[in-house]
Amino acid sequence: MIDVHDLHKHFGGARAVDGATLSIAPGSITGLIGPNGAGKTTLFNVIAGLIPPTSGQVSLGGEDITGLSPHILFQKGLLRTFQIAHEFSSMSVRENLMMVPGGQSGESLWNAFFRRSDIRDQERELAAKADEVLEFLTIDHLADEKAGNLSGGQKKLLELGRTMMVDARIVFLDEVGAGVNRTLLNTIGDAILRLNQERGYTFVVIEHDMDFIDRLCDPVICMAEGRVLAQGTLAEIKADERVIEAYLGTGLKNAPHVPGSGQGLTAGDLGASRGARGPGSPNGDA
Ligand SMILES: Nc1ncnc2c1ncn2[C@@H]1O[C@H](COP(=O)(O)OP(=O)(O)OP(=O)(O)O)[C@@H](O)[C@H]1O
Ligand SMILES: [Mg+2]
Repeated sequence: MIDVHDLHKHFGGARAVDGATLSIAPGSITGLIGPNGAGKTTLFNVIAGLIPPTSGQVSLGGEDITGLSPHILFQKGLLRTFQIAHEFSSMSVRENLMMVPGGQSGESLWNAFFRRSDIRDQERELAAKADEVLEFLTIDHLADEKAGNLSGGQKKLLELGRTMMVDARIVFLDEVGAGVNRTLLNTIGDAILRLNQERGYTFVVIEHDMDFIDRLCDPVICMAEGRVLAQGTLAEIKADERVIEAYLGTGLKNAPHVPGSGQGLTAGDLGASRGARGPGSPNGDA
């Protein structure tokens, strides 16, 4: 479905993405892991059209989409979740969802004067769809709450809800689990699984929480230093020497604190890099 071929994104001398080649299968929930600075977010940003690549190709269903704007990619059903814009925080959760779809007839002056009943019908439809989305995400009790009052995890659910308002088909999620409590993380995981199984959404999920990756993702792709190091099930990835070395820098065998079972890293070991993020991390959003 999505094929990335020999993709490069260099910032001056920094090779954030340095020859990444990978495929995202339709209908999959693909996990993207790798140590801090591996180039995961940059890869997302290039695929989603937020920044142009230095070189390389991205195609979607065989069509070259390299460098197309997010707006065009959005129309093709490819969506990177966006944070809830600050100015929407005083609007209700339902209203936030109703803002999403483009091309509402209420936006046109002509329609505002001449087709009032159409607009009312459309608003009713949008509100009904928003309520359906909120019910699906099990946050219907929050419909009238101001978006600014939601917890971090509830905001993530609302972001997922926005993808449902436009019937996105391919959704990129960058660290949905960051700062989210375990209960809400499970709710987010449930929603992703159901969107995948019941509605055929394809997901690409960047996450440092290996329990979350383990529950949702197959396959898992591990990046390091701007390239794809390994791909497979999480169990295969965790047992891969190159992956272990990338996470630990110096290699597993010589590291005294690493489990001596010989069965590779534990989920906790791979997840340990989360805390290493500095405040100056250049991630656009999460
Ligand atoms: N706009 C930019 N200008 C300069 N360097 C950048 C820029 N964006 C990213 N980088 C660098 O590119 C490398 C990859 O960063 P990126 O944010 O893509 O990594 P990541 O895998 O998402 O890491 P993390 O797990 O910490 O989010 C890092 O060394 C980073 O400092
Ligand atoms: Mg990142």
